[in-house]
Amino acid sequence: MAYDKRQATEEFTRWSRSYDRGVLQPLLFAPSRRALGARLAQRFGSKPFRLLDVGCGTGQFVAEVRDRFPHAEVVALDLVRGMLERGRERWERIGDRVRPVQGDGERLPFVDQTFDVITCANSFHHYPHQDQAIREMQRVLKPGGRLILLDGYRDAPWGWFIYDVCVTAVEGAVLHCSRKRMRHLYHQAGLEMIEQRIHRGPAPFLVSEGRRPVSAIPAPHTANAARATAESQARNRV
Ligand SMILES: C[S@@+](CC[C@H](N)C(=O)[O-])C[C@H]1O[C@@H](n2cnc3c(N)ncnc32)[C@H](O)[C@@H]1O
Repeated sequence: MAYDKRQATEEFTRWSRSYDRGVLQPLLFAPSRRALGARLAQRFGSKPFRLLDVGCGTGQFVAEVRDRFPHAEVVALDLVRGMLERGRERWERIGDRVRPVQGDGERLPFVDQTFDVITCANSFHHYPHQDQAIREMQRVLKPGGRLILLDGYRDAPWGWFIYDVCVTAVEGAVLHCSRKRMRHLYHQAGLEMIEQRIHRGPAPFLVSEGRRPVSAIPAPHTANAARATAESQARNRV
């Protein structure tokens, strides 16, 4: 049975109580945060930027962003209220430049071209409609903006065993993308893939970084919409 958002909500409402002190913190989540932080430092240095973290959990990563990048403006979105509530003390401490929002990564509640960068760590495999989620991320990125998506790397035997065998046995039918599928999803959404980097270790992960082109190369769905509008305008003129 396909994994759905009700399952995600139940799973993370339960997990929220122990999330910040679980065994996956040192094995996967802390190394993930370090990798994302390094990408941001490389990309922005001390320049100001507007960041959206999708699937932010209890807010550990955005708290680090807030401390490390004093000029960043940050929005942190998660589907599950319990995860956001667990981070309440953190939100209170960092509240001046970080805004927590409850919402769905597949239907982002933001206008087009809002963010310079979107991060999404260890969350994407929970999205039942991954193509739609990437299109939404593309939509809310500014031209030239970056999507840095991090998730379990399952293309080699150890990663396959962890993510496709063990994680699916525990979580249900979640989907960790292959490198190839991730490239396909980016391309389909109109994002240029700049780099895919594998981080090896006990819980290997893949960081895929893409860019929304500066000069508009319309994503296929946008191109179709534009063609439909042009055709309808042409019909109306007759
Ligand atoms: C394993 S946690 C990762 C949290 C954080 N990014 C980290 O690396 O520690 C996955 C998070 O994704 C969230 N999530 C699951 N489905 C989602 C969706 N459709 N939209 C937004 N967030 C979602 C969960 O509630 C959970 O907080």
